[in-house]
Amino acid sequence: MDMTPPRTRLAILPTPLVRASRLERVLDAAPLFVKRDDLTGFGIAGNKARALEYLIGAALAERADIFVAAGSPSSNFCAAAAIAARVVGMDCDLLFSGEPPSVPSPNVALARAVGARLFFNVVETRDLLNDRVLEHANAIRAAGRRPYAVPRGGATAVGGLGYALAARELAEQCNLAEITPRTVVVATGSGGTQAGLVAGQVGFDLPWRLVGASVSRPAQGMAREVLRTSRACAAAMGLHEPSADDVDVRDCRGAGFGIASAEDQVSSRMALEHEGLLLDDYYGAKAMTLFRAMLAADAPTPAVFWHTGGVAASLTALMGGAS
Ligand SMILES: Cc1ncc(COP(=O)(O)O)c(C=O)c1O
Repeated sequence: MDMTPPRTRLAILPTPLVRASRLERVLDAAPLFVKRDDLTGFGIAGNKARALEYLIGAALAERADIFVAAGSPSSNFCAAAAIAARVVGMDCDLLFSGEPPSVPSPNVALARAVGARLFFNVVETRDLLNDRVLEHANAIRAAGRRPYAVPRGGATAVGGLGYALAARELAEQCNLAEITPRTVVVATGSGGTQAGLVAGQVGFDLPWRLVGASVSRPAQGMAREVLRTSRACAAAMGLHEPSADDVDVRDCRGAGFGIASAEDQVSSRMALEHEGLLLDDYYGAKAMTLFRAMLAADAPTPAVFWHTGGVAASLTALMGGAS
């Protein structure tokens, strides 16, 4: 049975699927494609626009009047959530694990520009943020508000729905282009994006191997989390349940979240200089490093690099600032 909540349209879809022929030459692998979810066209939300279409839809269906989200101050999701809440007339509270940035930061500036309330330094470490979100939601509920609270990154079954449909969107584009992708690589942070893609891939019986580049958490724990969310997402859509074999997560943390290794720097320079793609040090560069390593190890092609966005951090890093 389909129990999906209503969808609030935010993104411009489908995003383009483009052949990366210059990357093919430098990587000596073909055919390669880029799925341009950096171009979802809602603020600078990248992949998070797809999750928010359903999270905001669910919040509206529950008659919530305030959206509560959390992340690090660099969070793309938090800024995107603040804008999405504003466009549907909802308030937004954002809880951050760190200090306010000492220099201008695009995501924080965007959240402020749409009137979100920002709470910095609410926990010592990011792992405690989800508990803090629930406490905050309870506190404002007791004060008469109707919160819709989501964990870091919006990684819930509802948030994953947009990516379950994105998997089908990719399949439709590939059908039109008469290609059968064999390898798909995506950056994985909170796991919501990969969870949705897994639910869609299994549920719609799609042919590729999806690999998530875990940028902030050890692979094993992340894989368990992705499996749990993808199963809940599949259940909500009435789709066939994914198994552990459907979840492939690789540890791409390197020196740490947002810290680019020498290989990551090669990845982002290569993407910019050969394809005009902006990759950030938190997500895109690490995923591209995995994509390059997999192709070098003869991963089957056609292969798709799923570009998830990160334009704010990419530009601020180039300018020597904070994201
Ligand atoms: C640019 C970008 N790419 C990838 C991700 C990872 O997505 P997820 O948190 O759904 O795993 C994020 C998460 O914030 C992101 O901002």
